Amino acid sequence: MNPAWIAPSILSADFARLGAEVDAVLAAGADIVHFDVMDNHYVPNLTIGPLVCEALRKHGVKAPIDVHLMVRPVDRIVPDFARAGATWITFHPEASEHVDRTIALIREHGCRPGLVFNPATPLEYLDYTLDKLDLVLLMSVNPGFGGQQFIPGVLKKIAAVRERVQRSGRDIRIEVDGGIKADNIAEVARAGADTFVAGSAIFGSSDYAATIKAMRAAIAAA
Ligand code: DX5
Ligand code: ZN
Repeated sequence: MNPAWIAPSILSADFARLGAEVDAVLAAGADIVHFDVMDNHYVPNLTIGPLVCEALRKHGVKAPIDVHLMVRPVDRIVPDFARAGATWITFHPEASEHVDRTIALIREHGCRPGLVFNPATPLEYLDYTLDKLDLVLLMSVNPGFGGQQFIPGVLKKIAAVRERVQRSGRDIRIEVDGGIKADNIAEVARAGADTFVAGSAIFGSSDYAATIKAMRAAIAAA
């Protein structure tokens, strides 16, 4: 199993001080930066694009940037994010006309591809894609907003993905996104996740390092 990664979602950061917020959360022990891209079309909210990703790189952010695309269409924006310094690029299969092509496009542009599953999206999309993916992202809320309640039904799904990944024999990260806090992260880890997105739980806390430390301790004890 891969080492656990904590991925703070900057959706809950103070956007007026974004560079300093990302520096602070990385200094507090975060492993990767989760970057939520929303288009007010595929999801009912509007956030940030490649210019902001590039600005973080220019600011000096060296950590991997985990770009979660909640946009339709997907392919148009992939090369822009690759140029802007994205490390991982994940997308929702419902938002792409040609899922296999989008995965290849992400790879061709030097980024690591991942597929995202909404709470009600079946895992069948993995039947013919898992061998091309570096990450599977399971949504534990409906995408569009931070600060929502964790949907417990995703736990069974995490376990099902863990089984598929094990069978594949490939090194594929399993990431979970939505409603994760220090007091429920252990069950997410136990179900088989290794990458944990947390927005409001980290940026809404007064001490980022203490929150991340509590999350790691809960994972270690899971
Ligand atoms: C939701 C986003 C999440 C969100 C997580 O559409 O993909 O990354 O910011 O926020 P919390 O941890 O507050 O649920
Ligand atoms: Zn996200």
